[in-house]
Amino acid sequence: MLFTQKNSVEEVFQTVKHELHRGALDAKHPFRFVTLATQSENGVDARYVVLRTIDQEMNFFVFTDARSSKVAHLHTNPDMVLLFYHPHKRTQVKVKGKAEIISGGKTKAAFWSNIQGEAQKSYNQMLSPGTVIRDPSGAYSWNEPMTDSNFTVIQIRPFEIEALQLNGNEHLRILFSLEGNDWKKNWIAP
Ligand SMILES: Cc1cc2nc3c(=O)[nH]c(=O)nc-3n(C[C@H](O)[C@H](O)[C@H](O)COP(=O)(O)O)c2cc1C
Repeated sequence: MLFTQKNSVEEVFQTVKHELHRGALDAKHPFRFVTLATQSENGVDARYVVLRTIDQEMNFFVFTDARSSKVAHLHTNPDMVLLFYHPHKRTQVKVKGKAEIISGGKTKAAFWSNIQGEAQKSYNQMLSPGTVIRDPSGAYSWNEPMTDSNFTVIQIRPFEIEALQLNGNEHLRILFSLEGNDWKKNWIAP
């Protein structure tokens, strides 16, 4: 369990934040991989991504290829959801927020400087993600030299965080909502 009904809403907020930070720091933590849901004129979509970091202001950061569908979706509609699940703690965390696509500037340069060698290949495939190919091997060619031109950072500013912890018939559900600069914290019925 991550929290109990005896915890104050503030304690639960700090615990959930702490666990999210651990997801970004620890490659083996279940929050490391998260479902990112987006919406476009063609409907809803979802996919796993890696949670790269969470900063002091609680912005979430994800890396991707500028040519991927998620980037087009978020350009059209920045509303998105990150959905985490921790199987041992039996806890789901849903983060609703607005995404900003960062395709240049200091933030992108700082993140790119930490991506070295083979890892740069993820953003240097010659074919755009989703291109139809006759054979899988057709996708295994990369730009030479590798560049950061397709590397894109998705910055997510959350405005709602909800945690649901399963426990027999006594599930716990709590909602944190950003109002102005304050996070309102309320237990809600599971
Ligand atoms: C465990 C896992 C982690 C992934 N991490 C990322 C990631 O950090 N960034 C990314 O762009 N795609 C990641 N992918 C691939 C995406 O799920 C997706 O297939 C790809 O980005 C194309 O998505 P789109 O066409 O919906 O934009 C990951 C896939 C898995 C299974």
